[in-house]
Amino acid sequence: MADARPFHWEYHPPAVPREIFRVEGGHPLRGSVGVSGAKNAALKMLAAAVLTGERCRLTNVPEIEDVRVMAETLRDLGVVVDHPSANVYEVSAGDVDWLFVPLEAAAKMRASFMLLGPLLARFGEVIISNPGGDRIGRRPVDLHVDAMRALGAEIDYRYGYYYAKAPGRLRGTEVTFPVVSVMGTENAMLAATLAEGHTTIRPAAQEPEVDDLIAFLQKMGAAVERTAPDTIEVEGRKRLRGAEHHIVPDRIEAGTFAVAAAVTGGHVTLHGAPCDHLGTFVEVLDRAGVAISCTDDTIEVDASGSGGSSRPGEFRPLDIETGPYPGLATDLQPPTCVLLTQAAGRSAVHESIFEDRLEWLSELRRMGADVEVIDAHHALIDGPARLRGAELDIPDLRAGASLLLAALAAEGVSRIHGGHHVRRGYENIEAKFLDLGARIERLQEEDPTVPS
Ligand code: EPZ
Repeated sequence: MADARPFHWEYHPPAVPREIFRVEGGHPLRGSVGVSGAKNAALKMLAAAVLTGERCRLTNVPEIEDVRVMAETLRDLGVVVDHPSANVYEVSAGDVDWLFVPLEAAAKMRASFMLLGPLLARFGEVIISNPGGDRIGRRPVDLHVDAMRALGAEIDYRYGYYYAKAPGRLRGTEVTFPVVSVMGTENAMLAATLAEGHTTIRPAAQEPEVDDLIAFLQKMGAAVERTAPDTIEVEGRKRLRGAEHHIVPDRIEAGTFAVAAAVTGGHVTLHGAPCDHLGTFVEVLDRAGVAISCTDDTIEVDASGSGGSSRPGEFRPLDIETGPYPGLATDLQPPTCVLLTQAAGRSAVHESIFEDRLEWLSELRRMGADVEVIDAHHALIDGPARLRGAELDIPDLRAGASLLLAALAAEGVSRIHGGHHVRRGYENIEAKFLDLGARIERLQEEDPTVPS
């Protein structure tokens, strides 16, 4: 088996129009903003919709590049994907005539690998490219592949593609992961819904988006349930039906805007905000001394100094460590680092999930932040720093959004190259910031031929 050769080194991604954010910092954000649907739930539900030939309707789908890529990937398979109005997608996978997920899709987005489980379970075979996705360290898919093999699939790896077959139906089994994996859990769960017999997945990821996927699958007639915090059990069904589902709000987007309010010394109310899903992050902000309050679906952050609330520069330093849910989300580590540049003292950051997810801190340093990256998983941040506008490069989605936050908080003008990475995961981010009083514009890079 050649599973050790993960990437397609000959492949050069097609040029994409590169974008620049021009941000004039130093203006406190004020007002209210709505939170969009969760990217990391929407992508999996679009994939899950191929488990049935009947029509599925998803609402509150964020209008982002990754969703567009997933929809295109499904259409290339012969799936009918309609987009009747903003934030609504309808998927009919009655005819799937091409059980092949090409490199073009996989190179754009790691979540394309979410098609492995459902296509294999429903059609008994699929050829799927090894995914690329964000440049945040080694991102293997061995856990997904091992889970499918445990469910009875035969999988070979040749020339960058997994050739997967399930002779007869997949068979229910115990899927045991050596570490918690969000998409590994989801892929195993999707495959198990159409397998013969009972599947137990342990340890299962506990992210709210996984539970939202469970809710959608239940509406499709799947017998799937979280029976313990770290356990999901599935009783396979012969077929599933069409269903309609409203996607949960995006806790990462909510967390990003909460930090934007804090570091600009602003006062922002987030509507449709997933308070319950942000538990640890709300605690982190609270420990840092940021005035944050939550009601059922509203989060208010006040760093304006009014009523004695702390302002940027006055926040408390922290030791933080990312972890699987309910721990601090790795996707909120970059915004939290921006916050910690505005704390008075030394903070320690431990990124426990991904390698290389601290590399972007070198860009933050160029803005005047006092950051020391100790190794792939640890960094120290000394504050408070006076951030200055700079010419910056976005390395990935979450780091990119966080550089925007730093630019909003900085003195002077920043030009942030690679803005298209941010569009992968944030709906109308500059429009939302503009509504809050930010000075931000999106420009086309002069030479759009540079590959992504
Ligand atoms: C999901 O990625 C999210 N992506 C990521 O969001 C998020 O950062 C991550 O979970 C962690 O919360 C989507 O949902 C589309 P993992 P996923 O499998 O599922 C290792 C964003 O910005 N691992 O939970 O791919 C892995 O290297 C993104 O929205 C293996 O070793 O992450 C990591 O150390 C980026 N082998 C750990 O497990 C595997 O086969 C957890 O990763 C799979 C994972």
